[in-house]
Amino acid sequence: MPKYFSIILKWLSFLSMAMGALTGKTDHLFLDLDVDQVANGTAGSWIRAPWGESYVSAVRESRYGDAVWARYHMDGRAKGNIIEADNTTVTEELLDDAMGYRVGNPDLYKAVATRYNTTSSNDGHRDVVDIILGVLAENLHALEKRDTTYSIKCSSANLAPRSECYDLLEYMHEYRTDLGSARDGIVTY
Ligand SMILES: *[C@@H]1O[C@H](CO)[C@@H](O)[C@H](O)[C@H]1NC(C)=O
Ligand SMILES: *[C@@H]1O[C@H](CO)[C@@H](O)[C@H](O)[C@H]1NC(C)=O
Ligand SMILES: *[C@@H]1O[C@H](CO)[C@@H](O)[C@H](O)[C@H]1NC(C)=O
Repeated sequence: MPKYFSIILKWLSFLSMAMGALTGKTDHLFLDLDVDQVANGTAGSWIRAPWGESYVSAVRESRYGDAVWARYHMDGRAKGNIIEADNTTVTEELLDDAMGYRVGNPDLYKAVATRYNTTSSNDGHRDVVDIILGVLAENLHALEKRDTTYSIKCSSANLAPRSECYDLLEYMHEYRTDLGSARDGIVTY
């Protein structure tokens, strides 16, 4: 009896995994926010309308390009494709992130990109999926070489105490180390 029971349980968990894939679940890369939490408002008060709702409906309808596009607009920094505060564009930031994710976890990146490739024909941002697939097609070793690090300069032009500037440098170093270990521990399919 217990043996059959465990077989049934295995089947059920397999089924729920398959269902999850079919109903368009989130991942640990571009679509990192839990859809139910975004939908019920518990994912954070930083999420700007209407992007939370767009994210939820796009993920649920397997419109992955729309979902990633919404994700990059949720914090309110981007207007259209422009992120003025950082003098950059959503497309550029996406490309940077994509290269970082691919180098950090090639297997997970491949699984995610392959899934986005099956995006709904109603996806309004197939271009976003194509950018992500483009990075998958690039040579991994070449990407590893160009994986950039950012530097900051402590200069008299910035109105902050020198000590805070050094604190920031210290913090960035720790953050980078944490990020490295977090990437190693990332959940895979
Ligand atoms: C929101 O959704 C999450 C994930 O399903 C759940 O754990 C949480 O209890 C929900 N919170 C509210 C207030 O509904
Ligand atoms: C914004 O970015 C462009 C292109 O990368 C650069 O040429 C320009 O100098 C930057 N402007 C500012 C204010 O940083
Ligand atoms: C994406 O889908 C197209 C069409 O189905 C297929 O030819 C291509 O190999 C797929 N690419 C990836 C990386 O899955």
